Amino acid sequence: QSVAVLGAPFSGGQKRSGVEHGPKVIRDAGLIERLSALDSSIHDFGDLTFSKIENDETYMEVNTPRTVGAASKKLSGAVSRAIGAGHTLVMLGGDHSLAMGSVQGHAQQCPDLCVIWVDAHADINTPMTSPSGNMHGQPVSFMLKELQDKVPDLPGFGWMKPFLTSRDIVYIGLRDVDPGEHHILKNLGIQYYSMRDIDRLGIQRVMEVTLDNLIGRQQRPIHLSFDIDAFDPALAPATGTPVNGGLTYREGIYITEEIHNTGLLSAMDLVEVNPVLGATPEAIEATAALAVDVIASSLGQTREDSSIHDFGDL
Ligand code: ARG
Ligand code: MN
Ligand code: MN
Ligand code: MN
Repeated sequence: QSVAVLGAPFSGGQKRSGVEHGPKVIRDAGLIERLSALDSSIHDFGDLTFSKIENDETYMEVNTPRTVGAASKKLSGAVSRAIGAGHTLVMLGGDHSLAMGSVQGHAQQCPDLCVIWVDAHADINTPMTSPSGNMHGQPVSFMLKELQDKVPDLPGFGWMKPFLTSRDIVYIGLRDVDPGEHHILKNLGIQYYSMRDIDRLGIQRVMEVTLDNLIGRQQRPIHLSFDIDAFDPALAPATGTPVNGGLTYREGIYITEEIHNTGLLSAMDLVEVNPVLGATPEAIEATAALAVDVIASSLGQTREDSSIHDFGDL
């Protein structure tokens, strides 16, 4: 197995600056060293650079559409090349609007992929339902074929045609869903497991049903899109849109262990780590260290055997 790490220091999908430093703090928390201890070769592709687009005026109440469209287009190309070269891809965000690029680039190589979206938010607003105009709350609506008529052609998005169906995605961790988003989820029959569902069913059952729905009938590549705000803000305080009552550490790690155990993880995003929003250095470090744990666990680090320790002939 070979893993490609790609940083996407981008914040244009929302208004709070700092999330563009996510890749740096996640690397500084020891990501590459931790992944090197696993049974895979690590290729650090460094960070993409995104150029500023002047006069990027609001279009149909969407903020900076050209900037977001260009960033996702660039990311899509890089992701597609990395996966085409045989790597499992890890994308470090950046805000969650980047998922349009990473999932689209992944889908170019793997048209039959499915998506597991771990998040406090559904990120499925359309430009018309969005309460904020921020594109990090909208990426899923741009990917879904069923929403094609509901999503206008935005400047910067000519490259992107919807490619996913509502049966190809499952949400885990939801607890802050806007009215328009709830309507879409119900209308399209999209599978989701909210924090309430996790309370009722337990994370073990949630993962069993999630994986049965997505890969029970047919094996296919998995794209994990992990927003750090899925975790409780006590664990992940340095993020732009924290919501109380999130995943515990053990629930989050269990999700990623189960995904790893399928053997089908093909690409993942780790987004929305914003070091500027940590109240203390400890808060920032805790959030970044958690991101590293999520990525390492997705790629095979286990709680039973940390292969870092070498006991020789014992
Ligand atoms: N639902 C809200 C919105 O549309 C918040 C979205 C937060 N998204 C995120 N990726 N953190 O603006
Ligand atoms: Mn979120
Ligand atoms: Mn999100
Ligand atoms: Mn081992």
